[in-house]
Amino acid sequence: MYRVTPANRVDATFEVESRRPLLESLREQGGDLPYGCRYGGCITCAAKLAAGIVNQRQQVALNKHQINAGYVILCVARPMSDITLEIGVDSHGELYRNPFLEPLEPDELKACIAAPKE
Ligand code: FES
Repeated sequence: MYRVTPANRVDATFEVESRRPLLESLREQGGDLPYGCRYGGCITCAAKLAAGIVNQRQQVALNKHQINAGYVILCVARPMSDITLEIGVDSHGELYRNPFLEPLEPDELKACIAAPKE
């Protein structure tokens, strides 16, 4: 069991299991968190990791820019340590950006998008 401490909520901590997705565990314990697809594809459940380690190999929604900014996809991410997260839509400040004003650099795209296999 690991402990999740929300950085942007007061008086809340959660106990979570390493084998279960964080979204599932947090919602079961009363965490009122946004979600959509629940398979790692839509980004609605994103949270920002402030401390700790998660395994989110199954996510397909985040680009490298978002991952480098600390975002994790709670519906597929599993904790690998005690973690601190900014949760909910108020953590999404750096998640989206206008692609016309600030286009992604080629190295920020996923390899399969920047250089598709032929
Ligand atoms: S709910 Fe869609 S990515 Fe998590």
